[in-house]
Amino acid sequence: MSILDIDVYPAPVLKQLAARIDRIDDTIRQLADDMLETMYKAPGVGLAAPQVGQSIALIVADPATNETPPAPMILINPEIISASGEASIVEGCLSVPDYSAEVPRHQKIVVKAITLDEEEIELTLEDFPAIVIQHEIDHLHGKLFIDRISRLKRNIFERKLKKGTLA
Ligand code: NI
Repeated sequence: MSILDIDVYPAPVLKQLAARIDRIDDTIRQLADDMLETMYKAPGVGLAAPQVGQSIALIVADPATNETPPAPMILINPEIISASGEASIVEGCLSVPDYSAEVPRHQKIVVKAITLDEEEIELTLEDFPAIVIQHEIDHLHGKLFIDRISRLKRNIFERKLKKGTLA
């Protein structure tokens, strides 16, 4: 296992549409392992392959809280097949250091994905785990949480980033 470098905004790979994975091989399994290790080390609760420079549809996450045991998830070609309700929390992203903002999301989602064992699964997620997975799936569409905040907040973010005064 190894710790991977995380690309940060405005790296072009973060804006790309990630390619679907059509073969799960050792390279994918290794990448998933390394992404989990990188995520835990950061620390973070989710990581998408484009964030480590790989524009493919793979995400890892662990939305466990302090009260629940670790629950690593590895999802390949994840797709939201239904979404309902509204929820928001203050989000951050390992690719957008030193910034966080409240982002409007769905409260409940149903996600279809493939596991590393090539099984097709459907997950129903609510609240924090649902938000984490929406954030990670956004990465596969070249979207960051700063693309979902108000124009005003985004302008302030861009200005601070330029001046180097984010932290
Ligand atoms: Ni992120």
